[in-house]
Amino acid sequence: MPFDHRQFRDVMGSFATGVAVATTRDAAGRPVGVTVSSFTSLSLDPPLILFCLEWVAESWAAFRDGEFFAINILGEDQAALSSRFASVRADRWAGIEAMDGLHGCPLLPGTVGWVSCRKETVHEGGDHAIIVGRVEALERDPARSPLLHFRGAYGRFERAG
Ligand SMILES: Cc1cc2nc3c(=O)[nH]c(=O)nc-3n(C[C@H](O)[C@H](O)[C@H](O)COP(=O)(O)O)c2cc1C
Repeated sequence: MPFDHRQFRDVMGSFATGVAVATTRDAAGRPVGVTVSSFTSLSLDPPLILFCLEWVAESWAAFRDGEFFAINILGEDQAALSSRFASVRADRWAGIEAMDGLHGCPLLPGTVGWVSCRKETVHEGGDHAIIVGRVEALERDPARSPLLHFRGAYGRFERAG
């Protein structure tokens, strides 16, 4: 490769994204959540979305085995939640009052919106799984603004032009 991992990450990190927490339940019914910026819409008809998850992620088994998951789109005041669901701390759910969405997938409070999905397909994308979901329910809070992620830092959306 004419570039190293650092350069690749630096350029990809220059593409600003939103931040989301993908949630599901494991085989024992325990809530599982992981911070992802790889969430995107894929298809309008049928309504499909995707996110990418490292094969080595602890949470992969739950998304592999589960039929349903939800994507929680974080708000600008939820950077701590993003860090929490990206950390190795044992209990990411301590003190969080999540609601049970469709099929019990946890919905976090205070988000900009969420989609609830039935897992459609999983594809191989190098060292990540590409998890495609069909949206079965969705909601948004038009009063809230999103949390953004750019070059390793969090930020806020500001209208330009
Ligand atoms: C802003 C942000 C975005 C992230 N996006 C992704 C992503 O899209 N896919 C991924 O596999 N990990 C992503 N991560 C890293 C995971 O959240 C992190 O590795 C987490 O500890 C994995 O948890 P698990 O091992 O319990 O599954 C992101 C982290 C942050 C802070």
